[in-house]
Amino acid sequence: MIKKQLIDNAKKTELFLKKYIKKQKKTNLLKAMKYGTLSGGKKIRSSVILNTGKLFNLNTKKLINICGAVECIHSYSLIHDDLPCMDNDKVRRGKPSTHVKFGESTAVLAGNSLLTLAFEMIADKKYSINHNSKIEIIKELALCSGHTGIAGGQQLDLSFEKQKKNLNQIIDMQKKKTGKLFNFCCFAAGSVANRGEKEKKSLGLLGEDIGFLFQLADDFLDVRGSKKLLGKPTKKDKKKGKSTLISFMGYENAYIYANNLKKDILRKLKKHGKKAKDLKNTIEFILGREF
Ligand code: IPE
Ligand code: IPE
Ligand code: MG
Ligand code: MG
Ligand code: MG
Repeated sequence: MIKKQLIDNAKKTELFLKKYIKKQKKTNLLKAMKYGTLSGGKKIRSSVILNTGKLFNLNTKKLINICGAVECIHSYSLIHDDLPCMDNDKVRRGKPSTHVKFGESTAVLAGNSLLTLAFEMIADKKYSINHNSKIEIIKELALCSGHTGIAGGQQLDLSFEKQKKNLNQIIDMQKKKTGKLFNFCCFAAGSVANRGEKEKKSLGLLGEDIGFLFQLADDFLDVRGSKKLLGKPTKKDKKKGKSTLISFMGYENAYIYANNLKKDILRKLKKHGKKAKDLKNTIEFILGREF
């Protein structure tokens, strides 16, 4: 059931991205950009956007360019995350990482181009988001991607390697590198639905917790997951001396922490009743997943 929902949502975003990229001017970077975005991946962030949209009866058409944009930013962050100057990983989504396949400079530039393509998609006149909401979404996406979001979090992640960090520092890093983009996903759906300021903010914070939970699950899978199912190497965090909740409090305690976080998130969704069904299923999937 959840798998079907995820696969359907992923297909919608994938199709949108394929069509959008097809209409781009042909350049030497396009092949690496496609490789980084369209070669697999769960597209879970765009599912979270569509699931959150359901809370407010929004259909896919209203959200699909935002879904595409978020996946472009996510793919850019993975291309850069795998570079030798970052995590130095050679396999991603069951294939050679983008820099292994196309070279480092092309990978850096394809990543940069995906980051800017995301903003192009949101600003595109073709999609029917109202003007104020569009401006607000563009600003929020910038905040969640740059030094106060993914990029800032990635810098902290690398600088925390082989260091003793406290719980708050680790949480702050994980919420930035992974939580913020999920914050954007929930915020953006609220913005398209013209919700009030307070509600949009709390949707964003809920999304941030979903993203934090997603990163915790990624860290668990690094310990006990299957390389084949994940399509990426495992057991690498310990080797690199990454600061995670697992390194801080041990696997068992970190799992209890994550399970409480999940319950907390689900509790906050109660008020939406049946409309939250898909989002709840996605949250269950996030912690229970094998890939
Ligand atoms: C992996 O993200 C990196 C993290 C932020 C934990 P995903 O697990 O969403 O990667 P794909 O897109 O499905 O490959
Ligand atoms: C990646 O975290 C977070 C990003 C924002 C890219 P990881 O470094 O743990 O992701 P994987 O395990 O390489 O996919
Ligand atoms: Mg990393
Ligand atoms: Mg990595
Ligand atoms: Mg990981």
